[in-house]
Amino acid sequence: MKERLEKLRDELLGELKGVAKESELLGIKKRYFGRKGPLASLIKELSKLPPSERRSAGEAINRVKKEIEEKIDALLSEYHQRAREERLKKERIDVTLPGRRLPRGTLHPITHVLSEVEDIFLSLGFEIAEGPEVELDHYNFTALNIPPEHPARDMQDTFYIDKEILLRTHTSPVQIRVMEKQSPPLRVIAPGAVYRRDSDLTHTPMFHQVEGFMVDKAVSFADLKGVLTYFLRNLFGEKTGIRFRPSFFPFTEPSAEVDIECVMCGGRGCRVCKESGWLEILGCGMIHPEVFRAVRYDPEEFTGFAFGLGIERITMLLYGIDDIRLFFENDIRFLSQF
Ligand code: PHE
Repeated sequence: MKERLEKLRDELLGELKGVAKESELLGIKKRYFGRKGPLASLIKELSKLPPSERRSAGEAINRVKKEIEEKIDALLSEYHQRAREERLKKERIDVTLPGRRLPRGTLHPITHVLSEVEDIFLSLGFEIAEGPEVELDHYNFTALNIPPEHPARDMQDTFYIDKEILLRTHTSPVQIRVMEKQSPPLRVIAPGAVYRRDSDLTHTPMFHQVEGFMVDKAVSFADLKGVLTYFLRNLFGEKTGIRFRPSFFPFTEPSAEVDIECVMCGGRGCRVCKESGWLEILGCGMIHPEVFRAVRYDPEEFTGFAFGLGIERITMLLYGIDDIRLFFENDIRFLSQF
């Protein structure tokens, strides 16, 4: 029996040397240590031995069994260790590699200029108000002293939702909405989108305006000139030439349009200013007494000025953009320049 045991041991150790895979190892273990394996039959044969030999033979079998088992376990853990190392190697990442940069968005040029305009007026103590883009005829026209037969009310100029409701054609209705709710003194700007039936190189059906107005006792045309001159020089540069031209709006009296010296040619005359050297930049005036009456302010007690300017136009002049439609095409090559 001793000899068979030795032979079995050598055979097993020999087989273990050639093993390369965990599954083979487990196979060997099963084959030799299973209930019908060679070790089991040796143990069964113990009973046939004379009692005096049984003990030492049993011990010998157990020793071999333990030796082989330990060997197999050691090999198994070696395999596990190696498999783990290989997996870690495959999953390895180099944390020192620079990451891929995510493309960063930029502010839309309209948003950018709008916030610049807002900052200037906020620094002068103006507050920001907003009104609805879908507006009542009353706020867009009637309360602003625009009578029913006025050409601005024509279907050619205004998008109507029904007889009473329309898309606001300017931000001036916010004047009415604010004055209805608040009392003077008021210093307000109202930025937002407006809509007109218009479409060419310099007009889109939707564009942005900033309305501004100031109401108090004894606000004068000099205040209007002072505030707008400060604003325009801040935006276009300290030395920008500015002129006020008489004009007409139903909701201001007197009314004016403000020109700045052409930012393209410095006033010498070019295609952009149509050789005049001047660019029309905004409309303004002293708030009409009829407008005050519409919001139940006493025009004997209060005076005020108002102005409205187009953000697209200002942005085009500031950046030398010659087609307004570029703002709304969302071409990343255009937008990422700002
Ligand atoms: N609402 C006028 C327009 O859109 C601009 C304006 C505003 C003029 C306030 C005078 C006073 O053309």
